[in-house]
Amino acid sequence: MRIGSLLVMLAAVVTLPVPAAAAEASAAQELRAALRATPDASRGAQLFANCAVCHGADGNGARSGAVPVIAGQHFRVLVKQLVDYRHKRRWDVRMEHFADEHHLTSPQAIADVAKYASGLPRGWQVGIGTGEYLAHGAKVYFRLCESCHGPVGEGDPQQFVPQLAGQYYEYLLRQLHDAVEGRRPNMGRRHVRLLEDLELADLAGVSDYLSRLVPATARDATIAAAEGRR
Ligand code: HEC
Ligand code: HEC
Repeated sequence: MRIGSLLVMLAAVVTLPVPAAAAEASAAQELRAALRATPDASRGAQLFANCAVCHGADGNGARSGAVPVIAGQHFRVLVKQLVDYRHKRRWDVRMEHFADEHHLTSPQAIADVAKYASGLPRGWQVGIGTGEYLAHGAKVYFRLCESCHGPVGEGDPQQFVPQLAGQYYEYLLRQLHDAVEGRRPNMGRRHVRLLEDLELADLAGVSDYLSRLVPATARDATIAAAEGRR
């Protein structure tokens, strides 16, 4: 066989799209491996240097909502989101780059950096909405979202439900729009359908409400500081 046709054949093999089912299976496999690893937070701290460039050394992101807070997010949620970016199940060019196998070389590395970020205290950074639809948003939240995201927006690590308390308004609103417009493939069909039924005022209100919920770690820090003053 001539070398030219061999190269053509090789190129064909390399560019063959991975069947969806196989991609699905390898994401699930990587998720399981990362969750089974024994995470090393001090190794995670080293890896976090890359993340800190955008998420901040404290993991609290940017108040503008351009970069989300990841500090204090559930370990299992962080692992799942990182795996999803790696397997194109969640789209963002920056995250697909920094979560790839050159930056996080193994399921162990995913676990390490997730462990470190989950242990950072989640502040309360007041990146909130305008207040216009706040009362309405609270009603929407308790009617449609609280059953999974929890009474104080604390989420549920067992079910991979993210903690949303204290997340930035602009970020939340963008995720909700992304989901409705089909740009969050990792969000389940039922979740997307639930959001599709909401009006703009519902989405703005519920994002505003969540952005104002004080995360448990920030509340504890405030109480500790108050007790220290006594
Ligand atoms: C170049 C800037 C940048 C760097 C570096 C970066 N991130 Fe991100 N990260 C973002 C942005 C922007 C988003 C929101 C993307 C989106 O809309 O999906 C994000 C989203 C995330 C999310 C999803 C949060 C959620 O609430 O669902 C996680 C988890 C995350 N980043 C972890 C990391 C980790 C861990 C690292 C380091 C290995 C890292 N990021 C490095 C910018 C960055
Ligand atoms: C059946 C349980 C369930 C219900 C009900 C639910 N969610 Fe979720 N939500 C989830 C899960 C699980 C995820 C994580 C999806 C993934 O893996 O990306 C999520 C993710 C999200 C995210 C993305 C967070 C991030 O950091 O990127 C937002 C925002 C959100 N939900 C808002 C809502 C709102 C608003 C409602 C009510 C209108 C709602 N959810 C109702 C389970 C639920």
